[in-house]
Amino acid sequence: MDNKRRPLKCIFICILVAVAVLFVYINADRQSEVWDAPAHRKSLPAEPQWEDPGPYHVAYPRNYKFIMDDTPVCKTKTPFLILMVPVAPNDVASRDAIRAMWGNERLVLGQLVETVFIVGLPGGSDAQQQQEQLEQENQQHHDLIQSNFQDSYHNLTIKTMLMLEWLAEHCDSAAFVMKVDSDVFLHVENLVQLLLDPGTPKRDYMTGLVWWHSPVLRNPFIKFYMPRSVIAESEYPPYPLGMAYVMSLDLPAKILRVSPQIKPIYIEDAYLGMCLKRLGISPTNPPDDNMFLVTPEHPLNSCSLSKVIAMTTTSRAQLRSYWEQIGQKAQC
Ligand SMILES: *[C@@H]1O[C@H](CO)[C@@H](O)[C@H](O)[C@H]1NC(C)=O
Repeated sequence: MDNKRRPLKCIFICILVAVAVLFVYINADRQSEVWDAPAHRKSLPAEPQWEDPGPYHVAYPRNYKFIMDDTPVCKTKTPFLILMVPVAPNDVASRDAIRAMWGNERLVLGQLVETVFIVGLPGGSDAQQQQEQLEQENQQHHDLIQSNFQDSYHNLTIKTMLMLEWLAEHCDSAAFVMKVDSDVFLHVENLVQLLLDPGTPKRDYMTGLVWWHSPVLRNPFIKFYMPRSVIAESEYPPYPLGMAYVMSLDLPAKILRVSPQIKPIYIEDAYLGMCLKRLGISPTNPPDDNMFLVTPEHPLNSCSLSKVIAMTTTSRAQLRSYWEQIGQKAQC
């Protein structure tokens, strides 16, 4: 009885193994199809084929223009530090708050600091009205840069790359740029102090809250889901978190140079990490872990506050209250 069953068992196992091998082979083939596609396409007759990149692969076709760009920043003077704030077109309240707080500091430790805001095209039914308001706002402050792509969360990579284009074109003789989100508390003096430190590199330098081993998330039901077909690796290369990062101003042109070789994904900070890796440049940890804080436990005590460079806040009122506190003496 046992002897008769053995060949059957063997056949069953053989079939199972064959199916498994076939499965692995098909899958491997599918992956290589994705990665090799541009090379295959090159050998085909030149017929432009539009392919929907899908929401996880945001095209950055480099054909956007600046439609509002009359700011004197980087054009009449050479600042030491540029604060670059990506913001939604209709978020006048955030821009005004920043203009009244950290965006209003011009001379810090003897160094010129200038703030500009970058926006895309407004959307929605009142887009035209928003656009007119933006133009009026810019006539008053001359600190808006606008490009002709649709401003949206999934277009953040486009916004970031346009920011780099603008910096490479106008600001390459300035020393540093900090990209900072509008809900972030920024301690400009601490930042300038770090950048003036002789230990801070002046080239190939990028710092912030560096994510060293950020996993590529494969759960389709969560934010930041990234399919294997777009990124096969299980980890992103190291990158500073998008809330606030600093770079030396030789980097925008270098990143733009390698970016055509890197698939643009909508997670803009991870995308910069992918470009840095291609350049062979690693981001640097800040000298103190307390300088860049994401979702810290609020309220921060005055000693910790005196060491912060950038941290996320939960409301504009909270941001303002921290701003008022840093003028006072720290209790350490
Ligand atoms: C991104 O911008 C482009 C260009 O304006 C637009 O065609 C596209 O719909 C935008 N994508 C999203 C997700 O808003």
